[in-house]
Amino acid sequence: MSEGVSIVGGGHAVFGKRKESGLRDLAHEAVRDLFNTTNVSKSDIDATVIGVAGDGFNGQGSPAAVINTELGLHGLPTIRVESACATGTAGIISAYNMIKSGLRDAVLVVGAEKMTSISSGEATELMARAGDLRWEFPFGVSFPGYYALIASAHMAEYGTTREILSSIGVKNHYYASKNKLAHIRKEVSLEEAMGAIDIASPLNLYDCSLISDGAAAVLLTKDSIAKKFTDTPISIKGIGQGTDTMMMAQRESLTELKGAQRAAKEAYAMAGVTAADINLATVHDCFTIAELIAMEDLGFYKKGEAGQAVLDKQTYHDGKIPINVDGGLKAKGHPLGATGVSQAVEIRKQLLGEVESERQVDGAVRGLSHNVGQSGQFVNVLIYERSDL
Ligand SMILES: CC(C)(COP(=O)(O)OP(=O)(O)OC[C@H]1O[C@@H](n2cnc3c(N)ncnc32)[C@H](O)[C@@H]1OP(=O)(O)O)[C@@H](O)C(=O)NCCC(=O)NCCS
Repeated sequence: MSEGVSIVGGGHAVFGKRKESGLRDLAHEAVRDLFNTTNVSKSDIDATVIGVAGDGFNGQGSPAAVINTELGLHGLPTIRVESACATGTAGIISAYNMIKSGLRDAVLVVGAEKMTSISSGEATELMARAGDLRWEFPFGVSFPGYYALIASAHMAEYGTTREILSSIGVKNHYYASKNKLAHIRKEVSLEEAMGAIDIASPLNLYDCSLISDGAAAVLLTKDSIAKKFTDTPISIKGIGQGTDTMMMAQRESLTELKGAQRAAKEAYAMAGVTAADINLATVHDCFTIAELIAMEDLGFYKKGEAGQAVLDKQTYHDGKIPINVDGGLKAKGHPLGATGVSQAVEIRKQLLGEVESERQVDGAVRGLSHNVGQSGQFVNVLIYERSDL
């Protein structure tokens, strides 16, 4: 059997409305952070994988060529990957496959997005075009609308309440307030969150992720050379992928993502673990309801039981299964192509004990990331493990 693949370094740009920084500057910031914190030089890198989800946000086509050049890595092989909001983990999986096949030894993955050069309305329309252009988009549905349908169905079937959804937003804002890389570093009270302006009923402002600029980077190598770069490589132990129908109307159920269930099953099997063995997770909370159904789809809770766990604060950093203790997409921010890579950077830092003390999950050795494209058309689940302990 071929040898394993590890993450040996991570870097992260500050997420936010980064007026002065373009796509290439954000990518540069993330990779500079990686180079400053990892024992790596350019000549160690065999190839790059660049994840950028949208072309229309800042008008720049061919982002992989632009970013590769900005990084001074032109000449090396590169590819661009795109799987909507699951672009970042699609990049990590592509790099993993390149190394696992023996084609490359060390691959740099960069996920980046510059979303705020256009208005929120324009960004909403651009993202809505990832819905079915024949049967959904013309009728006005956009992403807050898709997840509002999911929230309404979950409320009707399982008695999910406004308080449960708002409690997820409150938690994620709390942790973003402790995360120096987050877009909004402001706590919100439950009252504020419950009473916020409607965006797509039943979802309000504090149920929605942010439209952000940002970038993140990870360096993957084959295990036999990993120690050249760091004393503490983080192994990629499990990978699972799933998909679903393009149109929501074709789904059997609106209260779950079948693609996430499939991806989780595959990742757990590959890693030889179960949900009970995971010490913390970053899940794709593009809307608060998405975090709730992820808790159920990933097997952390039975269907209909995640809501009570939220109210009991079981997903805080010292709870039963810490979830999104970096602030999540909700408040750390959601620059589409960067998100999946940012999740991996966060899990790696958590496993190394390197995050801010107020959000550190003590003694974590195994983490999971769950990255969703659109409303479940792509789902990637990755399991990471610190194997030196
Ligand atoms: C909810 C949403 C429409 C608000 O956008 P907007 O009305 O243009 O908001 P603005 O950018 O003008 O910001 C107005 C204020 O609200 C805050 N804000 C914006 N979005 C916010 C959010 N999602 N949560 C909390 N606060 C938010 C801003 O920080 C700003 O605060 P300030 O006045 O103190 O600076 C936008 O955040 C959104 O569309 N989110 C969902 C993104 C999405 O669909 N992603 C894809 C997922 S699949």
